[in-house]
Amino acid sequence: MRETSTTSTMANGTMKGADGRGGGAAPSSLGATVGRFSREMTDGLIGHETLVEALMIGLLAGGHLLVEGPPGLAKTRAVKRLASGLDVGFSRIQCTPDLMPADLTGTQVFRPENNTFEFKEGPLFHSLVLVDEVNRAPPKVQSALLEAMGEGQVTAGGTTHPLPRPFMVVATQNSIEHEGTFPLPEAQLDRFMMHVLVGFPGAEAERAIIDLVESERGGQGPTLSHSLDPKGIVAAQAEVSSVHLSPALKDYIVRLVIATREGEVAPEIRAAIEHPVSPRGSLSLAVASKARAYLHGRDYALPEDVAALAPDILSHRLVPTWRAVADGETARGLVLRLLDIVAPL
Ligand SMILES: Nc1ncnc2c1ncn2[C@@H]1O[C@H](COP(=O)(O)OP(=O)(O)O)[C@@H](O)[C@H]1O
Ligand SMILES: [Mg+2]
Repeated sequence: MRETSTTSTMANGTMKGADGRGGGAAPSSLGATVGRFSREMTDGLIGHETLVEALMIGLLAGGHLLVEGPPGLAKTRAVKRLASGLDVGFSRIQCTPDLMPADLTGTQVFRPENNTFEFKEGPLFHSLVLVDEVNRAPPKVQSALLEAMGEGQVTAGGTTHPLPRPFMVVATQNSIEHEGTFPLPEAQLDRFMMHVLVGFPGAEAERAIIDLVESERGGQGPTLSHSLDPKGIVAAQAEVSSVHLSPALKDYIVRLVIATREGEVAPEIRAAIEHPVSPRGSLSLAVASKARAYLHGRDYALPEDVAALAPDILSHRLVPTWRAVADGETARGLVLRLLDIVAPL
């Protein structure tokens, strides 16, 4: 984690061949570094394998994450841990109701010495941005954030300022409803590649958390030794794009998404959906499936990659009808049922 740009000796892009297949399923040395990094991430986050996998997939696929769950489940900790192992600029924005869009994006400041305005970059101008408790930010701030996430740039005073590469936002939100929160607008939620839900740990994990925090207090917590810098991350993203996604898997993704729009495959599920999944959903599912394959050391995606990611990638992009909601249906429940109906091949 750092504030300014430096180069590191790690992960300087030991790229595979142009077709990305590297002559077999063996991961590239960069892929191996990424895999190790991911395992080290989980050492400090008890029972959060799924969350760590989602963070890694977001990083590798160039996507943003929304992490939701009750307070105290290590959501903030997970992102800080990711930042501590990455050699990239990191900023944390704690959302409050009095936050203004410019507090994120930056402001024009007047320079009397040469009588001009100059743009002072806000905290969004970092490669990894933690937007903590995003639902406590007012709607104007949320839309400035979502716009920057969607476009990879910030416009201020008529000038466009590109955000750094890589650029990843991880927003957290507490699932316990309380006064003074602003739910994210449903229509803009699909700027997030994944919406990850975290739940309470079991007894064994709870015990392990106590031991972990105890050892950390004694200065002996699990550290992250493998640092990835911006060049390494961009190189890993390039390797991910050349992971093979077969035509049959692309069809599988399309059939899942189309079933939310057209009624032939799963009429009862289509009938429970008010707003179906947009093409952003299929694009995200395609690239995230490749990233998951890469993380598992494969240079080809499998149906299990698509099926494992579909709930976190499709659920927040569809809106159930009020009737379905009244019947206790949820978007995630609908996606899970869809996965039972739509066969991979
Ligand atoms: N699964 C876990 N693994 C490791 N530490 C945890 C875990 N769950 C909770 N903790 C501990 O609880 C504290 C609260 O975590 P925090 O990230 O602030 O929660 P949240 O952001 O979800 O409200 C952490 O600092 C950590 O010490
Ligand atoms: Mg928190």
